[in-house]
Amino acid sequence: MPTLNTEPKIAPKAAAKTLAKTVAMRPQQADRSAGKPDAIALLRSDHEAVHRLFLAYEKARSTPRRKALVAEICHLLSVHAQIEEEIFYPEVKAALKDKLLVPEARVEHAGIKTLIDELLGADVDDEPYDAKVKVLSEYVAHHVKEEQDEMFPKAKASSLDMAELGARLAARQQALLAQQA
Ligand SMILES: [Fe+2]
Repeated sequence: MPTLNTEPKIAPKAAAKTLAKTVAMRPQQADRSAGKPDAIALLRSDHEAVHRLFLAYEKARSTPRRKALVAEICHLLSVHAQIEEEIFYPEVKAALKDKLLVPEARVEHAGIKTLIDELLGADVDDEPYDAKVKVLSEYVAHHVKEEQDEMFPKAKASSLDMAELGARLAARQQALLAQQA
């Protein structure tokens, strides 16, 4: 099954730096009990960050600004999806004995990845560019809703240690951001 575990190869370094700053600065990312980030809070914080970027894109007019925002969106989504696929989904699948939510989320990631690849290879001023960004935002909104309404509550109610999981997610996220910055 295709995954979103590809390096965000085309996103410029500037986007990586901006994203690293965004991730480092967000206070709501973690319910820091005992100094550890909470997995759900971290993932929700990514969802909020990407939502804000899509809103900023809707208002952006200049080509460089639109291009930079899309690079940041694609980069954030790629790193987010990678840590979910490598760490969060396998743990949730095992804890919930899940055969539905995680496979569905992986298929959705594959669809999102296809659009990311198309956007990163496209000309910002081509007519379908805005349409692709819009459709990507709709795919992401659907995916986020399913995670937040179904997967996260079930994961939270399971035996998973969200603080331990959160620490692993945060460490991997920081490593990926540092690699690309
Ligand atoms: Fe997510």
